[in-house]
Amino acid sequence: MRPDLEVVVEERPTVYRPSDDSYLLLGAVSVAPGERFLEVGAGAGLVALHAARITESVATDISRDAVDLLDKNARKNGLRLRVVRTDLMAGLRGPFGVVAFNPPYLAGEPSDTLGHAWQGGDDGSEVALRFLKDLPRVLAPEGRAYLLLSRENAPARVLAESSFRVKVLTSKALFFERLDVIELRQGLE
Ligand SMILES: C[S@@+](CC[C@H](N)C(=O)[O-])C[C@H]1O[C@@H](n2cnc3c(N)ncnc32)[C@H](O)[C@@H]1O
Repeated sequence: MRPDLEVVVEERPTVYRPSDDSYLLLGAVSVAPGERFLEVGAGAGLVALHAARITESVATDISRDAVDLLDKNARKNGLRLRVVRTDLMAGLRGPFGVVAFNPPYLAGEPSDTLGHAWQGGDDGSEVALRFLKDLPRVLAPEGRAYLLLSRENAPARVLAESSFRVKVLTSKALFFERLDVIELRQGLE
């Protein structure tokens, strides 16, 4: 999806601010009318709000502030977006044709709300690993998921490649890391 200047994404100090990684994911995601869309860990909602202009969309986040901001941003844009406060996809029922996630991918244990946006435990992979394990439950058999990973997230990459058909769609060097958006499809060859 191309950034649309008509989409207003208000920010808040306690919620992850749309950043280079958010725009990398946005540019890699494609969704068509009629495809049910889910963004996990939607933050302020950059990707989910763009998708909601195209098709029925759901956004989750574990942060109370993010969920409140997502709701407000959807209303501000006059969009119907179902917002759910939950851990990853817990309690959600598929199938979704398209799923997107920009997880906390830096190594370290979070100590506050914003830490949960950045830090993904060991190798920065723990949240992405849990996402990958639950993904087949909600992803439509012919669906696709878009996951942003850093090159440091080796355990998540290994699991992705052993569970899905994986394609690297786009990459970007940022400060001390390199980020990729990978596309995941069910059914190993
Ligand atoms: C790197 S930020 C990305 C935010 C937004 N998607 C973007 O690209 O700008 C990661 C987001 O995931 C959320 N998050 C972290 N752990 C989560 C979990 N277990 N379940 C749901 N959301 C989670 C954080 O609160 C944060 O909003």
